[in-house]
Amino acid sequence: MAFPATRLRRLRATPALRGLVRETQLSAGDLVMPYFVHAEPGRLAIGAMPGVERLDVDALVAEAGECLDLGVPAVLLFGLPASKDPEGSGAWAEDGIVQQAIRALKAAHPELIVIADLCLCEYTDHGHCGLLTAAGAVDNDSSLELLARTAVAQARAGADIIAPSDMMDGRVGAIREALDREGFTDTPVMAYSAKFASAFYGPFREAVDSTPAHGDRRGYQMDPANGDEALREAALDVEEGADILMVKPALPYLDVLWRIKQRSGMPLAAYNVSGEYAMVKAAAAAGHIDERGVVLETLTSIRRAGADIVITYHAKDAARWLAPTQ
Ligand code: PBG
Repeated sequence: MAFPATRLRRLRATPALRGLVRETQLSAGDLVMPYFVHAEPGRLAIGAMPGVERLDVDALVAEAGECLDLGVPAVLLFGLPASKDPEGSGAWAEDGIVQQAIRALKAAHPELIVIADLCLCEYTDHGHCGLLTAAGAVDNDSSLELLARTAVAQARAGADIIAPSDMMDGRVGAIREALDREGFTDTPVMAYSAKFASAFYGPFREAVDSTPAHGDRRGYQMDPANGDEALREAALDVEEGADILMVKPALPYLDVLWRIKQRSGMPLAAYNVSGEYAMVKAAAAAGHIDERGVVLETLTSIRRAGADIVITYHAKDAARWLAPTQ
């Protein structure tokens, strides 16, 4: 029955009523905080991302402890190696920077979920996510072996979840097989399934110095115009053994999140990326928006669209804002 018998405002009258009928919950336990760990001593600010820094291992251990205290259960690690080469050997080196960081984090905080981002672009001198052919193209199949090797090195260091973000075809299967072969049958893979060739990664590339020296990533990351193809990517990752799927970036792709969740029923993550963060910080610093309101609304919308897990540089702030007031 329509108005006046039906009045939707009845259930909006008080905070308690609104809480009772709220459909989507956002809590610190849904969040993952990304970190950049570098081989230099100390911390280094990242211009476009106020509040985010490159950290050394000790600073990272301290920051991760604060995450746990705030109820954020997981961190996602990116590494900046001391030096880069054409193969990205720093990615799989036994004493590579991310492997060192994982060992230190697990020793200090055994209960912390340590997720290792798996990609070669932070480690290659050309900045691409895979090996180059003589002609300068990113070669899919020869890159798989290096990705698998990196996954094993990360698992051996103690990573709880391996998260491939390179967008090579067949990487989830290759990584799963390598992990199983080395005895890491219980280490889950969180696949960046629908990762779009996005302009929103700009600040991240400043953070890890991974802007491709030539060309762009459109030969392997997805065309922002494609939703059906994202479903195909997700289905292939499930077939290859992915445990968690991911959509990235988050806000411009809420429809993709929704469709993948509806279709797959898989645990689903969304990555609220560096450019999304930078825009909010810049607008807030200029006094144009209320940062707290915008962040909590944004993260809630990502959850409403179907994400179980939200990876966001706002994780610590959001956890503070979500904490019950004493
Ligand atoms: C590595 C990778 C990127 C991001 C996560 N993993 C950058 C890229 O593909 O260029 C972006 C994260 C962010 O923007 O916050 N391939």
